[in-house]
Amino acid sequence: MDTFDAIKNRRSVKNFKNHEMTKNEIHQLLESAILSPTSYNIQNWRFIIVTKQDLKDQLCSLSYGQRQVAEASLVIILCADLKAWAKNPERYWINIPEESRKALVDSMRNSYDGKSELQRDEAMRSCGMAAQTIMLAAKSMGYDTCPMKGFDYDKVSKLINLPDDHVISMMVVVGKAIKPASSRGGQLQLSEIMFENSF
Ligand SMILES: Cc1cc2nc3c(=O)[nH]c(=O)nc-3n(C[C@H](O)[C@H](O)[C@H](O)COP(=O)(O)O)c2cc1C
Repeated sequence: MDTFDAIKNRRSVKNFKNHEMTKNEIHQLLESAILSPTSYNIQNWRFIIVTKQDLKDQLCSLSYGQRQVAEASLVIILCADLKAWAKNPERYWINIPEESRKALVDSMRNSYDGKSELQRDEAMRSCGMAAQTIMLAAKSMGYDTCPMKGFDYDKVSKLINLPDDHVISMMVVVGKAIKPASSRGGQLQLSEIMFENSF
């Protein structure tokens, strides 16, 4: 599918038919997600993929009964490791010469060390990028999606055993639409939100 078609046709779908995604499709989707850009190539995202119906049902309850969570073929919980910058970061630059790698790793450590707000910002930036890649890739594969933050973050964290130094950014549910999304809520005009060179 053409990129612009995927962008135009991606909508937040709330009703999915009973459909099982193949392991290959899930793999293709996540392999696309990890090509999304991250600052310093930190790849701080961590993806929990949920296919088991009983777990999707529990996530549906923790999402205040939003049915798309139970009906979706796949629920992806996008998490991030807040301390990824400190965990053997050389591997983010394994393909480049050692001297450049060392410079990047030092710069990365200086950038994140002791800066909890920046660590969280980076988590949200990376997961936001990955979420959009997942939604567009899914659309190209004949699937629909819904990005979600409407769930109990504390309870979902417990359910998935989220490590203390990780954070949940959002969920993306993926499935075969049984009903199209309702018409667009209304887009702001570019003239209201685009500014040339400064506000
Ligand atoms: C971060 C984020 C969280 C969202 N959370 C929910 C949610 O919990 N439940 C839901 O039905 N839609 C959710 N949405 C979908 C938005 O309502 C939807 O993107 C918006 O209305 C625009 O519609 P569209 O995605 O079909 O273009 C969320 C979207 C984003 C980006």
